[in-house]
Amino acid sequence: MPRLVLVTGGSGGIGSAVAQRFVGSGDDVVITGRDADRLARAAEATNARPVVCDVARPHDVADLVAGLGRPVDVVVGMAGGNTGFDDAAPAPSDADTPAEADRLAAAADAWRANLDANLISTVLTVEATLPQMREGSSIITVGSIGAEYAGSSYGVAKAAVQAWTAGLSAKVGPRGITANCIAPGFIDETGYFRGKLSVERRERLIGATHDKRAGLPADVAGLTWFLASPQARHVTGQTLHVNGGAHTTR
Ligand SMILES: NC(=O)c1ccc[n+]([C@@H]2O[C@H](COP(=O)([O-])OP(=O)(O)OC[C@H]3O[C@@H](n4cnc5c(N)ncnc54)[C@H](OP(=O)(O)O)[C@@H]3O)[C@@H](O)[C@H]2O)c1
Repeated sequence: MPRLVLVTGGSGGIGSAVAQRFVGSGDDVVITGRDADRLARAAEATNARPVVCDVARPHDVADLVAGLGRPVDVVVGMAGGNTGFDDAAPAPSDADTPAEADRLAAAADAWRANLDANLISTVLTVEATLPQMREGSSIITVGSIGAEYAGSSYGVAKAAVQAWTAGLSAKVGPRGITANCIAPGFIDETGYFRGKLSVERRERLIGATHDKRAGLPADVAGLTWFLASPQARHVTGQTLHVNGGAHTTR
């Protein structure tokens, strides 16, 4: 029987490439996203099975996993992104609310949005799939190079994903399950920047790499596939960077 692979955020640039990589090796792949049309297009392009689901919502995740019908062999928690790039909500108009309270309320909302989108979504996905997972299964979460400079809610959310994954590895290791986090640097051909990446910033991001190129979704897909392969069973508890050297570890 083929492995069951769940890729949340499978309708996006990196998630679609990951789904395609696993489908290409004969796995049964389920992809999720919130936008049904975008998800359907990705499913058609990759031959993965689409399930519309907001993985930051506990009910959605419970329904998703109940509908899978059998244990997941590989979980890829790709869903996420920097909610700071989303269009801002209109400012509150309640004239009785002090301006400072408005400012703090907006800050709290912005932080919660990134924690929900990146940390809570990942935790819920793993919480829901882990009880049924069997020996030999793999959990792959997604951090970011932004976690190395965690001065923003997005960077902090991704740093938390990376730290949580390391702790998760210790818990699931005795069951023969691995848990690793992939931290991408700048990856081109995705919806991540919501069309707001300036030419200058793009050049700066590429200039910071050792190989002087943008990362591509396939770069991340290759590592994801390896981490779920039999060759990677002793690789666990790690954050693995895919960034062309823009951030180095030793
Ligand atoms: N591209 C980069 O340079 C870069 C760098 C570092 C890290 N990353 C991380 O890589 C991951 C993939 O991003 P990407 O670059 O491929 O961007 P993307 O094209 O915007 O893809 C994001 C995917 O996540 C889905 N998603 C977001 N929130 C979701 C939710 N609550 N429930 C279900 N699906 C959700 C999106 O679909 P819907 O919007 O339809 O839900 C989409 O499929 C993200 O975690 C991102 O933070 C990207």
